[in-house]
Amino acid sequence: MTRFTVAIDGPAAAGKGTISKAVAAHFGFAHLDTGLLYRAVGAKVLAGGDPVQAAKALTPKDLEGDLRTPEVAQAASRVAVLPDVRAALVTFQRDFAVRDGGAVLDGRDIGTVICPDAQAKLFVTASAEVRAERRYLELADKGLDVTREDVLADVIERDKRDSDRAEAPLKPADDAITIDTSEMSIDQAVAKAVAVIEACR
Ligand code: C5P
Repeated sequence: MTRFTVAIDGPAAAGKGTISKAVAAHFGFAHLDTGLLYRAVGAKVLAGGDPVQAAKALTPKDLEGDLRTPEVAQAASRVAVLPDVRAALVTFQRDFAVRDGGAVLDGRDIGTVICPDAQAKLFVTASAEVRAERRYLELADKGLDVTREDVLADVIERDKRDSDRAEAPLKPADDAITIDTSEMSIDQAVAKAVAVIEACR
């Protein structure tokens, strides 16, 4: 069976999730949104848990439920600075990456730390304003009571924390191809990602 790993990193709300799902469907690969792991740990901490214990005890069931709120996102980025939390999540991600049939993982450190040998590495980005607008529409559509200003502030704060941390900071791998989706439609961004991955096959 084939093993092929696609690493997709980038800042908050850049379109990684949408692109990852689409390319996974296109190539028939499995997809792991690694942000959900940190969100699940963040949610447990908001409920009074210890971050390292929560990360060690994480089960697939913990990834269900509504983890896509700004509050959980902030909690995720706070626990994500802790080296012991990150270490507890490595094996699950690496095992997923080398599964038979191919895998797409999206996050912040997939191409740099989790899967430095990934066959294809993408860094998906967009301007903070474009990312905040997309996330605002997504959250408002779900009925959440958010403002554009709050969403932009949340995105900027998380990117800063994710980029400035000592352990596995948000940054493109040296051999990643950057896709700036600021002025692209979803279809254009997906087509570009598919073309980049095809070229690595
Ligand atoms: O991707 P998402 O916005 O769901 O990620 C939530 C938070 O989890 C990020 O802001 C980041 O702090 C953390 N994260 C990480 N490493 C990953 C994925 C997510 O540190 N691979």
